[in-house]
Amino acid sequence: MNNHSLRVYDSILGLLCSIDNPTPLVRLNRVTPFQHTQLYAKLEWYNPFGAIKDRVAANMIADAQERGVTEEEQKLVEPTSGNTGLGLAMIANANRYSLTTPLSNQIPQEKRTLLRFFGTEVLELEDTLCPAPGAPEGAIAKAHEIAERADVMMLNQYANEANPSAHYKTTGPEVWSQTEGRVTHFVAGLGTCGTITGVGRYLKEKNTDIQVLGVHPNEGHDIPGVRSVRQLQQTRFFHPEEYDGLVEIGNQEAFDLCLRLNREESLTAGPSSAMALMGAFQLIPDEPDCLGVVIFPDSTFKYASSVVTHIAGLGSPQTGAKSSRELLLDEMIEHARFNSDLTTDIMEAHNLWENADPVVIDVRTIDEYQESHVPGAVNTPLLEMSKHLSNFPEDRDTPILTMCQRGNLSLSGVLFLNSIGYRKAKSVTGGLDAWREKGYATDPS
Ligand SMILES: Cc1ncc(COP(=O)(O)O)c(C=O)c1O
Repeated sequence: MNNHSLRVYDSILGLLCSIDNPTPLVRLNRVTPFQHTQLYAKLEWYNPFGAIKDRVAANMIADAQERGVTEEEQKLVEPTSGNTGLGLAMIANANRYSLTTPLSNQIPQEKRTLLRFFGTEVLELEDTLCPAPGAPEGAIAKAHEIAERADVMMLNQYANEANPSAHYKTTGPEVWSQTEGRVTHFVAGLGTCGTITGVGRYLKEKNTDIQVLGVHPNEGHDIPGVRSVRQLQQTRFFHPEEYDGLVEIGNQEAFDLCLRLNREESLTAGPSSAMALMGAFQLIPDEPDCLGVVIFPDSTFKYASSVVTHIAGLGSPQTGAKSSRELLLDEMIEHARFNSDLTTDIMEAHNLWENADPVVIDVRTIDEYQESHVPGAVNTPLLEMSKHLSNFPEDRDTPILTMCQRGNLSLSGVLFLNSIGYRKAKSVTGGLDAWREKGYATDPS
């Protein structure tokens, strides 16, 4: 028998959350800008497999079982940005089902490794961070293709009513009962929109005055689990007419607040939690009777490889002597700097850009690229070059310019391109700084 007060359970599935076993609601004390409004974070990483999606995974499987469509050894397939897959994988294990997850190769390495560790067959595909239903080669198309087999079932969190109903049955009642009906604002980040739809509908039934607020990232973001407005058009549960407010939050703002949540509130919140909280700061007024609840979907532990690219000073410091291999690489980069076959000065680069239609590869981070780049340049951050070979032209004789801020990183980029056979790749000496100094066009200008 499951006993929540003693916290003794027959199996791990007894820990799945409900009004009798809610995830914690924790008051935010330091990062909030409010004098009067009370803000609470609902810590969804206290679900048994680490994220809010455990609720959805459990409800989709229970719903399928109630309809009598799952058998022993049922094969499941689900396109997922990670958390639904992790929850499904574990509930599948508990039921002796098997799971295949086609997913984007841009999903943090931690999630892909964990899925495999949990026994899932992971198919990595070229896709956006959140699978895009329209992409013919993407995760969702692949899942549909696999699900055509008679012995395979796709639960499809983007269209399965058991997704929002998981939140209508559990998350919503928890918020209402934990705040003793005093909640005035409910805030959630938008992914499939299952959370906001299910919780929002439940709370509005309890009290139509409760403000239901949605938060989404900007186009080109890399916050796992949530979708930009364009990406949101692709989920069946995006109903902005049901929300009382909707706001866009910038990538870096979210990562900066994520750091503060961990350091100042001692909350191990992940990036999408911080994004939702930043939205709450913007949408909730500062008034004495306001009580806001913000969903914190999962913890930061799965996102080390993601935060390291946004927050300075998290990488290992270069300590001790370098290995002979590292020294040799440094030497190669230094030689490249003075090799006119591998570099081009700024005027020559501009001339080539105007007349020879080269592929320009900007190897800086996405944030730097978005701030300003050479018109037409493709962004492929240096450390991700080997993962995105499709960004490069098929013809190894195509002229290529590699670009960075000052012409240092682009040297490594050119060496990489050389190593995979590009004969006409050149690093632009002086980088974007020199380009702008000359007054050449940039995008945005
Ligand atoms: C980390 C994370 N944040 C936010 C969300 C958004 O939740 P929903 O899909 O219910 O809109 C998800 C969903 O995948 C997620 O994994």
